[in-house]
Amino acid sequence: MTDKRRKNDNLESLDTLLAGLMDIHEMGAPPAAKCGTQAFCENVLKSACAIAGSDRGSVMLFDDVSCDLKIAAARGLSRSLVSLTHLKPGEGAAGAAFETGESVVVGDPESHPSYTGYQGRPEQKEPFVALPIRTRDKVFGVLNVHFGGDEELSASDYRVKMLSVLAAKTAITLENARLHDSLQNFYLEMVETLARVIDAKDSYTHDHAGRARRKARRIAEVLQLPSDVVRQVEYAALLHDIGKIGVRESILLKPGKLTEGEYGEIKKHPVTGYQILSPVAFLGQVAQMVLYHQERFDGRGYPEGISGRAIPLGARIVAAIDAWDAMVSDRPYRAAMKRSAALEELRNCCGTQFDPDVVKVFLHLEKTEWKAETAGQGV
Ligand SMILES: [Fe+2]
Repeated sequence: MTDKRRKNDNLESLDTLLAGLMDIHEMGAPPAAKCGTQAFCENVLKSACAIAGSDRGSVMLFDDVSCDLKIAAARGLSRSLVSLTHLKPGEGAAGAAFETGESVVVGDPESHPSYTGYQGRPEQKEPFVALPIRTRDKVFGVLNVHFGGDEELSASDYRVKMLSVLAAKTAITLENARLHDSLQNFYLEMVETLARVIDAKDSYTHDHAGRARRKARRIAEVLQLPSDVVRQVEYAALLHDIGKIGVRESILLKPGKLTEGEYGEIKKHPVTGYQILSPVAFLGQVAQMVLYHQERFDGRGYPEGISGRAIPLGARIVAAIDAWDAMVSDRPYRAAMKRSAALEELRNCCGTQFDPDVVKVFLHLEKTEWKAETAGQGV
């Protein structure tokens, strides 16, 4: 190869690398949230193959449970090979790259000691590189790329260096996604703990928050809300009654009719809930949903008496679920209503107390998915 042609090829590869990096950045952190880990790995591999000028390779990710490397994305490999390939650290070229954290360049597969895969296959002769997908602290997996043609391949090859950059960017993106997921899980655990505190205080509503959460999630999904809004609605359903922490148990658990003053105390719980949640930055929208979950669609609710679509959709979802759960549960002052009577009540209050769109989805899900659970509650 002439120097001029090599230079042109290198520039072309650089262009491909930059496009690949921008692509990964676009799919960005967290990849799992935006497009899923598999789609992300497929995109990385597409860029890697473009740099190598071939269409064969794989992205392997380490499975912390089975403690081996599995193929998350593949090109030019048979399905059976993809599903059967599980490598322990140190096993083969990919296992060696994972274990040492160093790239393994296999210029001549037939004679390389680490290259044990694909015995007897014609593609076995293709030069190959296994690059660790690693940050400073953690190796996530390995990027395996075959090179077409019969050119020599060495660690100093420009394309190998570019592939290292791609692997490093991939690792950073996976690390960001991992941090994002663990933060989300931490938040959720915190929210669940708060919800358990509420349930413990009002024992008649046992697992009320858990049931409300599951139902809110399904309604939000059927309404095709974006995934982050679905999560907020889920949190709001878990936390909507957190303000009851400020209400005396003698009122919450009173078997008889509440006095006007006692009812006034109960009616403070949406505002108290809002005051508890609104200082937490990531719960901003959730706090709004909690504040308005006792509003009615016709404007005759509390605390502000707002109506229709002025009430956040998450609050309208929680309102319907909350009322339903109250109707079909035993309360200190009355026994649970029968399912048929609660359904009738929901239909009667459609458009007055509840958002008709939410009621429509609720009734559909109650009929198709939740009937057995409601029956399990004894109604
Ligand atoms: Fe409430």
